[in-house]
Amino acid sequence: MARIVVDPVTRVEGHLKLEVEIEGGVVVDAWTGGTLWRGIELIMQGRDPRDAEQIMQRICGVCPTAHATSGILALDDAMGIEPPPNGRIIRNLILGSNLIQSHILHFFHLAALDYVKGPDIAPFKPRYEADYRLPADVNAQAVDIYLEALTIRRKAQEMLAIWGGRMPHVQAIVPGGVSEVPDTSKIYKFLNYLQEMQEFIENKYIPTVKAVADVYSDWLSIGTGCQNLLVYGGYPLEAGLDHVKKKKFWESGVYIRGQYKELDISKITEEVTYAWYKDDTNGTTPDVAVVSPDADKKDAYSWIKSPRYNGEAMEVGPLARQWVLKNPEVVALGDKAFSVMGRHFARAIETSHLAAAMKEWVLQLEPGQPVCVPHELPKKEVVGVGLCEGSRGALGHWHRISSGGRTMVYNAVVPTTWNSGPRTGSGAATVRGPMEQAIIGTKVADPNNPVELVRIIRSMDPCYGCAIHIMTPDKKTMNQFAIN
Ligand code: NI
Repeated sequence: MARIVVDPVTRVEGHLKLEVEIEGGVVVDAWTGGTLWRGIELIMQGRDPRDAEQIMQRICGVCPTAHATSGILALDDAMGIEPPPNGRIIRNLILGSNLIQSHILHFFHLAALDYVKGPDIAPFKPRYEADYRLPADVNAQAVDIYLEALTIRRKAQEMLAIWGGRMPHVQAIVPGGVSEVPDTSKIYKFLNYLQEMQEFIENKYIPTVKAVADVYSDWLSIGTGCQNLLVYGGYPLEAGLDHVKKKKFWESGVYIRGQYKELDISKITEEVTYAWYKDDTNGTTPDVAVVSPDADKKDAYSWIKSPRYNGEAMEVGPLARQWVLKNPEVVALGDKAFSVMGRHFARAIETSHLAAAMKEWVLQLEPGQPVCVPHELPKKEVVGVGLCEGSRGALGHWHRISSGGRTMVYNAVVPTTWNSGPRTGSGAATVRGPMEQAIIGTKVADPNNPVELVRIIRSMDPCYGCAIHIMTPDKKTMNQFAIN
């Protein structure tokens, strides 16, 4: 039995160590470990809870808007307030602009080089030497689009900043709404940017994904995973404090063991059996869980906790959203949707759908109408829950506020903890994380060049910056790539 260690896995956001055992050229077991310590929520303890929106989005420079959104939704929930339509819409436009930027980043600048052979210069090297199969003209075009995508992403950030003030780490999202006031010039400026985004998505992004999927069609059967899916839902289309019940562009739901079900967030727990945290928080709900690190814990291999839904590992992200929404193009793939290419396809399709919806939303803004309602800190102990759909999937912030108006517990359960958390349970009751499950059973042609493994990981677009937040002070070796 051979063991492959990839540490760090490159072209993902943050730091992941992957270990697999291989027998007869097939992966028989896998361990995904986040190698930096999570701890940013501890900074929130004892602070004015309204600091959450600014502090928590520092978790990550790629997904800050999702954390700003969940952070503020948790505060709205705790204070029992709802933004007026302008505030709701502008929040949706900020989050949507970031999703467009992030999905283009993910496909072209993180994942594409597993399929597109760039010139033998940086940033196209170093790389795994994959089985590059694209016809020469398609490959050359994809390299051109890779470069063009850099400019498009800059413009997506500028588009976001019309409403958010800046990017990364937006300024305009506040309790009860936003601080940016719409006027016709901002609306038309936004529409101009959005038009360019849509042209890129329809004429470059989706065709490139389809061209890759055509010649790598075997990757529609690789990287299946747990086939349990979870969606908190996002982009509210109406007012209403009950996030699960109110109408949203992407509705909430779960798909579990082949059944579609309503989301019940009381079924969410966090497990730390194989994570470097003290076991006293094992199995607790997110509103009470306070991380207590235990770097010497026996058998632990990750700084990522493992969220579970009714004890089950759940995949989150574009595939989960589009499958739970029964998007006809994704559902038409059948079981092949649960695959590396299925995830890339779902991601590209949802970018197109969201951009089209944003065009309608921006035209619903009403200059001169309020963007925000006043707020007051609660006078009793209360837990606010903020759920949204980040680019990478379901993101929840749980925020317990004391009667004196201070943060007692803050807990962010992020998409990458769902997808890339370590196993839970033991013996026959072991439940491996979704990414571990997706990797097991994969054929690895050359253990010295395990491109198959990183293709599966990258299809889930993990963000370890979000999942685990502060570097360990120990002597961890970085930039090591060991193969046994
Ligand atoms: Ni992130």
